[in-house]
Amino acid sequence: MSLPPRRGVVLAGGLGTRLYPATLAVSKQLLPVYDKPMIYYPLTTLMLGGLREILVISTPADVPRFQQLLGSGEQWGLRLTYAVQPEPRGIAQALLLAERFLEGRACTLILGDNLFYGYDLAGRLHTAHARREGATIFAYRVSEPGRYGVVGFGAAGQVTSLEEKPARPVSDYAVTGLYAYGPEVVDMARELRPSARGELEITDLNRCYLERGQLTVERLGRGFAWLDAGTHDSLLEAASFVQTLERRQGLKLACPEEVAWQQGWLDREGVLACARRLGPGPYAEYLRRIVQGADRDGQP
Ligand code: G1P
Repeated sequence: MSLPPRRGVVLAGGLGTRLYPATLAVSKQLLPVYDKPMIYYPLTTLMLGGLREILVISTPADVPRFQQLLGSGEQWGLRLTYAVQPEPRGIAQALLLAERFLEGRACTLILGDNLFYGYDLAGRLHTAHARREGATIFAYRVSEPGRYGVVGFGAAGQVTSLEEKPARPVSDYAVTGLYAYGPEVVDMARELRPSARGELEITDLNRCYLERGQLTVERLGRGFAWLDAGTHDSLLEAASFVQTLERRQGLKLACPEEVAWQQGWLDREGVLACARRLGPGPYAEYLRRIVQGADRDGQP
């Protein structure tokens, strides 16, 4: 018997203090990364993984703004739900806030400022999603691992440790903000106690999985890009990366209308209806162009 579909969670909370004053009046995840709001990137990552029922978590002030931007999700063949994180109390708190929404389903959590790009990302997600229990996290080599959660590996490549922002990182592999969990995750998150900085740490949760022998770490190799956009420089770098690829190929990254269409959740009329709602402008023009291009050349 097939299981009920896995659900997705986007955590778009936090105060974005590192981006002040840009984020004094608006959530970081609503700022543009080149030509679209930042949250489009993690949202489309979940969509590529086949998820259509998604919870967006943000601050009390910003939830209404995300609702204004994304609505019910119906325009993209999604079912979006919203929840408030009253105060930033850690990434793992998102899983507790999601308890009612999850209804005991497996879930994939993604951070609202994480951008993933690479060959067969969808395939990698589907592999993780096929695991019925335990956790799958994704590790990526970075030049400054101490800014992140860090994975330690043994001689045979087995995972030996997980540490949050260590002063002396044991490897160059950062834990990315994309986590696939089985239905047991809410019970496990309930066991966590706040860290010294008063947060329910996602690294503590993942370490519990490691100790139970239920943690899979997938490495995203050099063919992937993983960017976060939490500082002025990383935001600009992410925007330049998107601009470079989009201008070269004439194809957009993280376009929810296009992903929904490729997944078969929207038909061409649905894409054109989205374009009509956006009126003129290059983004709507792109939607019209991909539909016309597919009429001519077949769907990309
Ligand atoms: C969080 C996590 C960290 C992870 C990072 C990925 O850190 O605590 O383990 O590597 O996200 O973006 P933050 O960016 O919230 O400091």
